[in-house]
Amino acid sequence: MTTKLHHSSLLLFIFIVLFLHRSHAQPNTTGYSCTANQTEYPCRTYAFYRGGLVANYSDLASIGDLFGVSRLMIADPSNISTTALSAPLIADQPLFVPLTCSCNPTNGTSNISSANINYTIRAGDTFYGVSTGVFENLTSYQSVEVVNPELVPTNLTIGVDVVMPIFCKCPNQSVTSGGSNYLVSYVLQASDNLSSVASRFGVQEQSIVDINGNNTKPTETLFVPVSKLPNLTQPIVAAAAPAPTASVKKKRTGVILGLAIGIGVLGVLLILAIAFWVHRERSSQKRGAGGLEGVGEKPQAYGEKGSREMEVNLLADVTDCLDKYRVFGIDEIKEATEGFSSKCLIQGSVYKGCVDGEVFAIKKMKWNAYEELKILQKVNHGNLVRLEGFCIDPEDANCYLVYEFVASGSLHSWLHESGHRGRLDWRTRLRIAVDVANGLQYIHEHTRPRVVHKDIKSSNILLDANMRAKIANFGLAKSGCNAITMHIVGTQGYIAPEYLADGVVSTRMDVFSFGVVLLELVSGKEATDEEGRVMWAAAVEAFGGRSAEEIGRDERLRGWMDEALVKDSSCSVESVASVVSVGISCLNQDPSKRPSMVEIVYALCKSDDIFDISEDGLSADAQVLAR
Ligand SMILES: *[C@@H]1O[C@H](CO)[C@@H](O)[C@H](O)[C@H]1NC(C)=O
Ligand SMILES: *[C@@H]1O[C@H](CO)[C@@H](O)[C@H](O)[C@H]1NC(C)=O
Ligand SMILES: *[C@@H]1O[C@H](CO)[C@@H](O)[C@H](O)[C@H]1NC(C)=O
Ligand SMILES: *[C@@H]1O[C@H](CO)[C@@H](O)[C@H](O)[C@H]1NC(C)=O
Ligand SMILES: *[C@@H]1O[C@H](CO)[C@@H](O)[C@H](O)[C@H]1NC(C)=O
Ligand SMILES: *[C@@H]1O[C@H](CO)[C@@H](O)[C@H](O)[C@H]1NC(C)=O
Ligand SMILES: *[C@@H]1O[C@H](CO)[C@@H](O)[C@H](O)[C@H]1NC(C)=O
Ligand SMILES: *[C@@H]1O[C@H](CO)[C@@H](O)[C@H](O)[C@H]1NC(C)=O
Ligand SMILES: *[C@@H]1O[C@H](CO)[C@@H](O)[C@H](O)[C@H]1NC(C)=O
Ligand SMILES: *[C@@H]1O[C@H](CO)[C@@H](O)[C@H](O)[C@H]1NC(C)=O
Ligand SMILES: *[C@@H]1O[C@H](CO)[C@@H](O)[C@H](O)[C@H]1NC(C)=O
Ligand SMILES: *[C@@H]1O[C@H](CO)[C@@H](O)[C@H](O)[C@H]1NC(C)=O
Repeated sequence: MTTKLHHSSLLLFIFIVLFLHRSHAQPNTTGYSCTANQTEYPCRTYAFYRGGLVANYSDLASIGDLFGVSRLMIADPSNISTTALSAPLIADQPLFVPLTCSCNPTNGTSNISSANINYTIRAGDTFYGVSTGVFENLTSYQSVEVVNPELVPTNLTIGVDVVMPIFCKCPNQSVTSGGSNYLVSYVLQASDNLSSVASRFGVQEQSIVDINGNNTKPTETLFVPVSKLPNLTQPIVAAAAPAPTASVKKKRTGVILGLAIGIGVLGVLLILAIAFWVHRERSSQKRGAGGLEGVGEKPQAYGEKGSREMEVNLLADVTDCLDKYRVFGIDEIKEATEGFSSKCLIQGSVYKGCVDGEVFAIKKMKWNAYEELKILQKVNHGNLVRLEGFCIDPEDANCYLVYEFVASGSLHSWLHESGHRGRLDWRTRLRIAVDVANGLQYIHEHTRPRVVHKDIKSSNILLDANMRAKIANFGLAKSGCNAITMHIVGTQGYIAPEYLADGVVSTRMDVFSFGVVLLELVSGKEATDEEGRVMWAAAVEAFGGRSAEEIGRDERLRGWMDEALVKDSSCSVESVASVVSVGISCLNQDPSKRPSMVEIVYALCKSDDIFDISEDGLSADAQVLAR
């Protein structure tokens, strides 16, 4: 009898413990449950991330890429100065990474509170490895399995996209009325205890216990309630060669910016919606009037309903951008460019401007920025000019895209303008060719849907202080392949024939234009001459088909190539010949016979001892020239 009683009270005890455990919604390997209360979710929050611990994620750019935010959006709340944006992180460097926390339905019974980050599986990745490694236990493999029910954890395909649910929480009313605006996701370390965490965040230990309970273990995510983010002390980074101006000591605007983005989203969307409508009205009027659309225009492919759907999609895309980039104020932009003075004009509608001590290139656009924004938010590569932020001026319906400033200007000016002409040596030219090819290979092979630049030309290739090339101006770029465009855009002398004739858009049209750039690098000749004849046609005639093997080819090559290269001792005619043959193969009239960028990168690297080039040797002279 007594044992029976004993048993049942034990059962009751276990039941109570289980019940309490459950009702407390404590750390749960599959995620933290939430109720989809729209006054709470979604919210802007932050994760505490330890920089410099994971191979390949040792700078802000790659961590930004991982979490789908820009470098500045991490630097601002983390007290990293804009002069240290590119510096490598030291081990265990503290960072606040902004997250958008949502309450996400799963296939199970409860919804989970998470910021969903896309991650592309690479060779050797497992759910466990990625969540404990790259994501530093900010999520768990069990949770990754729950939100990716269609994937087999033991059989992951390289390149497949996985949603990583980063644990996060939005404060409910009782938390906010206690004075806390954020619940920062913090992974408890073995070396931590609750009081050390509390002092790190400048909060009371009890407030952490109130949210998380007191049964917390290392590698579990704690939610630390703060009214604002604590100040992080960052290591002092040795500044790069030009001494930074000592007076740059602006207040950090990260938190305010974060809030402003949150609050601003609705307003901006409204403005954008109106702008798209205006834009559409205008362009349909234009269409009615018939003019201006250019050669080879195709009958309109979309009905009225189709284009409306497209705009809705674009709106959704721009919302993503709002999250990823720094939003500049129009006053900041005006101040940076001295009110768009001609002094600051770089070219066309691109101005040079300095914000908070960092120099940017600022492109003024009408409301046609969304295509470029949409594309740029998907790409991040060292050979593509990086977008840092944007600015919307509702008053005069302008939009500004803010890019990294690329110091030495365009390849076109280095090849053809009197000040620079002839000053690029052969190795630098080869390096530029490989850089551009790498950038194109990236957009062609590693974006989905594939991006086609559509306007590759020497004036859209920029050179940095080390004469490394970056592709700029995605204003005409399209994502999606083998589409037929409605109107032809591009630049005479670089446009692929099939696009000119039929409007066929494919990655192979970029290959064609790249071929023209290669020939430009070799010959120093412009893509079209004064009479409007295209350079590539003459080159194909001279060096294409049979003429390639004829005797006397080397002589003809010497006569055709840039005079400066003839004098350049590092430039062998064999190396020039192999680059010309790559260029000619890019110009094949049949797009399917042109090589892919992957093959081109391979051929270019093989064609010369390009890997021998010492980076310092390459840049020293160039840097002097760039002044
Ligand atoms: C938490 O764990 C329980 C089982 O322990 C499970 O039933 C539940 O789905 C989990 N997830 C959430 C979000 O509570
Ligand atoms: C989960 O979210 C969906 C939609 O967001 C909502 O309809 C549902 O009630 C939520 N379920 C729970 C248990 O909160
Ligand atoms: C780092 O990147 C290189 C090249 O991008 C790759 O080969 C290597 O496997 C990566 N390492 C890790 C740990 O992901
Ligand atoms: C939910 O799970 C069931 C079976 O477990 C499956 O048939 C269904 O497709 C799943 N739904 C989603 C949205 O994953
Ligand atoms: C993540 O991937 C999904 C589906 O592949 C896509 O719809 C979503 O836009 C992606 N999110 C981001 C932030 O790229
Ligand atoms: C995450 O947790 C696992 C064990 O659960 C541990 O081995 C790993 O080192 C942790 N990762 C980090 C970055 O702390
Ligand atoms: C693994 O996945 C691939 C493609 O998704 C499939 O072809 C293969 O049969 C799978 N292997 C196993 C053992 O399930
Ligand atoms: C949602 O949250 C608000 C404030 O936190 C609360 O007043 C309201 O009752 C909640 N609604 C639901 C359906 O839980
Ligand atoms: C608010 O959130 C805290 C911590 O997440 C929780 O303990 C509390 O029960 C919540 N209050 C309400 C009214 O939902
Ligand atoms: C914390 O844990 C101790 C024992 O470990 C327990 O006695 C106490 O009630 C707990 N406090 C809270 C607030 O859960
Ligand atoms: C952080 O810095 C600001 C201004 O520099 C200061 O007002 C604030 O008290 C600091 N907060 C903490 C927690 O140290
Ligand atoms: C930012 O970091 C520096 C060290 O790099 C530190 O001296 C300064 O106090 C920090 N700023 C704030 C507001 O804490």
